[in-house]
Amino acid sequence: MRHEIELAYVGIEVPDPSSLSSFFGDVIGLAPGEPSGPGTLTWRNDQKAHRVVVQPGPANDAVYLAFEAADDEAFDAVQARLAATGADLAEGSAGDLAARRVRRLVRATSPWGVPVELVTGLEEAPTTFDSALVPGGFLTAGVGFGHAVFATTAFDEAHAFVVDGLGLDQSDWLEMEIAAGIELEVHFYHCNERHHTLALARAPFELPQKLHHLMFETKVRDDVGAAFDRAWATDLPIPNGLGRHDNDGMFSFYVASPAGFQVEVGHGAKLITDDWDANRRYDRISAWGHQPLRQG
Ligand SMILES: [Fe+2]
Repeated sequence: MRHEIELAYVGIEVPDPSSLSSFFGDVIGLAPGEPSGPGTLTWRNDQKAHRVVVQPGPANDAVYLAFEAADDEAFDAVQARLAATGADLAEGSAGDLAARRVRRLVRATSPWGVPVELVTGLEEAPTTFDSALVPGGFLTAGVGFGHAVFATTAFDEAHAFVVDGLGLDQSDWLEMEIAAGIELEVHFYHCNERHHTLALARAPFELPQKLHHLMFETKVRDDVGAAFDRAWATDLPIPNGLGRHDNDGMFSFYVASPAGFQVEVGHGAKLITDDWDANRRYDRISAWGHQPLRQG
């Protein structure tokens, strides 16, 4: 399996970063990450310094998504591929490198409006990852921190950026009628063994948030159930209760964060293999479950 890049971290901007602390810490079970800029709080789900960076600002959305190249050669190759597709690239400043805790950084404008950062050398945290709430830990080795799903009206340009620029391969896609005359179309992309590191939904119009959800995968199935119980004990919306996706086979649920975007906690997704030939259309989101449980 080719392994050039993996999901490094996501930047979230909300007016008050502490408004997400109980959500990420007490519900999802992430651990505090290394210190960052003023007013910024960070979270991690493995030994890396940070995986979710929550900074103060008005966006109320994801404001960057970073992919970490396995080494300098991979970094150069992805940077060259992005440049060849005409992507708008900018070198990260010394301040960027320090804030992101990386050795190299190039920033690209993405068609879905959330800048993509190509980085290498993301720092390790000085302490081992330990979450009392997720005793089995999260699956991240060689597959990045999880996955991110965005909705965009510029779907065709976004697909080309992901496939031709970043070099991800499409895993499969979902096309279904969710109401009379309303089509849902989501494409799923991989860059390592994780079934999808990124997915893009074709949005019929600009939505208030580009980030639909982040996914964190536990190593142990029961840790999903325990996270569900913690989510259920809050009054947060649960857009989808426990279920199993048809395409990646993941057992998961979705809880809405106080900022609106959702988090999926899951386990047991299919792995992409060298002979992956399941790049096909699916016509249902879930094999079972994922019922809308509690609305906001
Ligand atoms: Fe997902």
